[in-house]
Amino acid sequence: MKEKIEVIKKEIESFVASTVDELEVMRIKYLSKKGEIAALFTDFKNVSDNDKRSVGQLLNELKDIAQQRYNILKSSFLTNKKSDTDLDLTRTAEPITVGARHPLSIVQNEIIQIFSRIGFVVAQGPEIEDDWNVFGALNFPEEHPARDMQDTFFIEKSPDVLLRTHTSSVQTRTMTSQKPPIRVLCPGRVYRNEAISYRAHCFFHQVEGLYIDRNVSFADLKQVLLYFAKEMFGEKTQIRLRPSYFPFTEPSAEMDISCNLCGGKGCPFCKYTGWVEILGCGMVDVNVLKNCEIDPEIYSGFAFGLGIERITNLKFQVKDLRLFSENDIRFLEQFRAAV
Ligand code: DAH
Repeated sequence: MKEKIEVIKKEIESFVASTVDELEVMRIKYLSKKGEIAALFTDFKNVSDNDKRSVGQLLNELKDIAQQRYNILKSSFLTNKKSDTDLDLTRTAEPITVGARHPLSIVQNEIIQIFSRIGFVVAQGPEIEDDWNVFGALNFPEEHPARDMQDTFFIEKSPDVLLRTHTSSVQTRTMTSQKPPIRVLCPGRVYRNEAISYRAHCFFHQVEGLYIDRNVSFADLKQVLLYFAKEMFGEKTQIRLRPSYFPFTEPSAEMDISCNLCGGKGCPFCKYTGWVEILGCGMVDVNVLKNCEIDPEIYSGFAFGLGIERITNLKFQVKDLRLFSENDIRFLEQFRAAV
């Protein structure tokens, strides 16, 4: 009898139940009226008088152990706590969520890659600037509206400390610190004192291009821009240049591309003209070369400036500029595949 008690005790101590049903089977097997422990109590009357005391003690102990084990396992199910063996080691790990690049970064990187294939290198400049680099050296007249507080964020008025309104300031810095040939691309953030709406923001991003060497002509500018338009928007893209005015270029032009949505046939996006404007450009003004101590008798060059938000709108049809700076995951996640 003692051996039998010992065997059942070991069984109970090592028993684990992974479901409530398994626990119920255990209860019926050991603790019910027709269970093994009850049967042992029935057999108890056959135990010799000599052994009755010690066997009786073991039997009571066994009953307590069985009841306790049952109670513990039951409470673990009630509190919904999983027992050790409930760990499913075959389950796959949680999927790791990978971030997506910001659409403006995707487009900026693509622009840099396209121009780097024809020898342009990236140049950087500070966002906090002075009047000379942003306006003075770039031939802005003293009374130009951009120099007004209404258009430019001034940090201090005298001496002038301001947030750059365009990346053309990096032109000034590059031309004053390097000797031609110069072939740079200057991406960066710019600031303007504008009311925020779906089509304007107080900060946005530009890429400036600058090429200075001997014998650089307007034909070179046109060919470089045609190459860019085709690489960015597809082989069938056409360009057109319209005369324009910028203080720092002469002659100046604005460039349109054939509407990449309707292929130039006319649609609401291009206001049925078949063309959309994408950048400003021109031959670097002689005064600007002189201001940066580059001899205009020897060197000439072209410059262009484009808005990254504008190109991104054309590529991805983002209609509201504010989305770019709201950090709404639902918007940003859509660009995961674009890289
Ligand atoms: N800086 C101009 C702007 O912010 C863009 C621009 C136009 C840049 C013509 C240029 C250029 O280099 O040649 O509107």
